[in-house]
Amino acid sequence: QQQRVPLIAGNWKMNQNHQEAVVLVQKLSWVLQDKKHDYERVEVTVVPPFTDLRSVQTIVDGDRMRITYGAQDVSVHDAGAYTGEISASMLAKLGCSYVVVGHSERREYHGEDDALVAAKALKAIDAGMTPIVCVGEGLDIRNEGTHVAHCTQQVEGSLAGLSPDQVAEAVIAYEPVWAIGTGEVATPEDAQEVCEAIRAQVAKTWSSQAAERVRILYGGSVKAANAAAIMAQPDVDGALVGGASLQAEEFAAICRFY
Ligand code: G3P
Repeated sequence: QQQRVPLIAGNWKMNQNHQEAVVLVQKLSWVLQDKKHDYERVEVTVVPPFTDLRSVQTIVDGDRMRITYGAQDVSVHDAGAYTGEISASMLAKLGCSYVVVGHSERREYHGEDDALVAAKALKAIDAGMTPIVCVGEGLDIRNEGTHVAHCTQQVEGSLAGLSPDQVAEAVIAYEPVWAIGTGEVATPEDAQEVCEAIRAQVAKTWSSQAAERVRILYGGSVKAANAAAIMAQPDVDGALVGGASLQAEEFAAICRFY
């Protein structure tokens, strides 16, 4: 875990207009400058809606902030007659470091499957960005007790076609669907169980070096009050935070646990 730089990513989902985005990023920049806490050891990234990216870029560049930012989705197409789509090269041009792919909300409301998620991950990589590939089981699967197999299969399918080096550089986020936005956080043991299994699967399918290097995040109702124990697990390399990333102080407090 020591060689992997922890990553705390704030997924704003469909929140914050561009003015609110400016205020939130400025506040975050201010809070992260607090010398009392050693924020240097962790990488902090924000993932705003597409319409905020230019504003966030301006603030981050203008203030020479050390936070990075990314997008919540990307098209599998490169350019052309795809109304409503945003290409990887457009996001790269805006300075995005990350692209979230396969979030459970996209899988559920937009019918995205593992093959599409893998294609999107490759588009992000080809454009020089890092995909944050999301996997996670619903409550029915958790109750059946097949969650580990479900998540490792999703990892296989959602990173299919990536080379071991590409997997090593990617980020995987384990987000149990029953924990997203519900306030019902997974226990540290639950998070570790699946993250450990995902790492073992990466070793088996790609390489042990890729497994050693790939960062695996936990997501689902992470808050400052519950982050420490989850982040302390050996196979958890950070968090993908939803609701709590909309408050600068709460989000920064989560970043303090490394
Ligand atoms: O991608 C982050 C996410 O789905 C978790 O959301 O609000 O439960 O932290 P939340």
